[in-house]
Amino acid sequence: MAAPFDTFRYAHAHRREIAWLSQNTNHLVPPEIVRSALDAAIQERRYEGYPYAPGDPELLDLVVRDIGLKDVAPFLSAGGTESLYMIARALLSPGDEVIASDPSYLIIHRFVELSGARTRNLDIYAPPYRLTPERISEAIGPRTRMILLIDPLNPLGSGYPRDDVRAIAEIAHDRHLWLLNDVTYRDFSEGHALAAEFAPEETITVWSVSKNCGLAGLRIGGFLARPEHVRTIGRFNTNDLGVNVLAQVAAIATLRTKSQWFGEVRRQTQENGARIRATVASVEGTTLPVYPSRANMMVIDVGALGVSPEALQEDLLRRHGVFVRAGTYLSPTHGRRFVRVSFSNPRTDIDRFVAAFPESVRAVAPPATAPPA
Ligand SMILES: Cc1ncc(COP(=O)(O)O)c(C=O)c1O
Repeated sequence: MAAPFDTFRYAHAHRREIAWLSQNTNHLVPPEIVRSALDAAIQERRYEGYPYAPGDPELLDLVVRDIGLKDVAPFLSAGGTESLYMIARALLSPGDEVIASDPSYLIIHRFVELSGARTRNLDIYAPPYRLTPERISEAIGPRTRMILLIDPLNPLGSGYPRDDVRAIAEIAHDRHLWLLNDVTYRDFSEGHALAAEFAPEETITVWSVSKNCGLAGLRIGGFLARPEHVRTIGRFNTNDLGVNVLAQVAAIATLRTKSQWFGEVRRQTQENGARIRATVASVEGTTLPVYPSRANMMVIDVGALGVSPEALQEDLLRRHGVFVRAGTYLSPTHGRRFVRVSFSNPRTDIDRFVAAFPESVRAVAPPATAPPA
């Protein structure tokens, strides 16, 4: 029997020819900023020694200033992912419940389950395509221990108005719940509000430089919380000798300069989003549930055509070198009707999507529903 097609293996093997629109990564940060910082660190052979274990003090300071919260301590980890794992392990016990959503960034749900807790996934694949304070309140039960607030939300690109963030934070405070506020895509969202402003005791804020600073491959991120909570969560740190020294150097270089170049990243991202929207509008039967995105990704619904997201993903990748992500990875309930596309990419990558998407949808749609050529 032929082995199933390994999407990521194929994409990595062909990475130089691929328009990588599949992981919400950012390919628009001026490369010389990271290159010159890493070159200097390599010249100095910084990699020979361990880093200062708590993290470079300048980096910790930059992170706190970048987020702009007071009375919090920063913690550094190998991507926001490691922090999310530690938080679930440290704050949840078997039988606990976490209010979350479907679709969602399901890796966090897996960490919740590893702690013996479970997520209660509220279906948000309908307007307003996000959680609301009312639905959260109704869903709270005797076992509820935490609310997961990913803002902006991967994969839909929806974001929370300030008043909703405040109301959700007040619920967490009044009901003595942890509020896990994952703000990985925050910089893409104009007017973003942090839950910690309204519930500083209950909120753990997870940050990352993977997406805003284009450093996903270097694996660096972390969380911010009240110092006593950082100590509680920090007990579950396995990365005891510190986070990759070169990753820290790159994070410092990008955070120092972000205010100079992020505006252009956002502008190009928005322009790309508008071009993807026009392409989707031109293919009958395909729609964007959320537009504009408050992040650098969005969902394309192909359910009305009966198109399999996996088939579309594979056709786009193999025949056109355009890598998008099938929705099953992001939604147990609705993942069979969408693909996710991310677009902090050079214009030429979007040109390829624009040319390939209509053609690929026609190629994989069942005959009765195929859009007109
Ligand atoms: C909502 C969310 N949180 C966390 C992460 C992981 O980020 P990191 O690369 O910092 O581990 C991602 C990555 O896609 C994400 O979408």
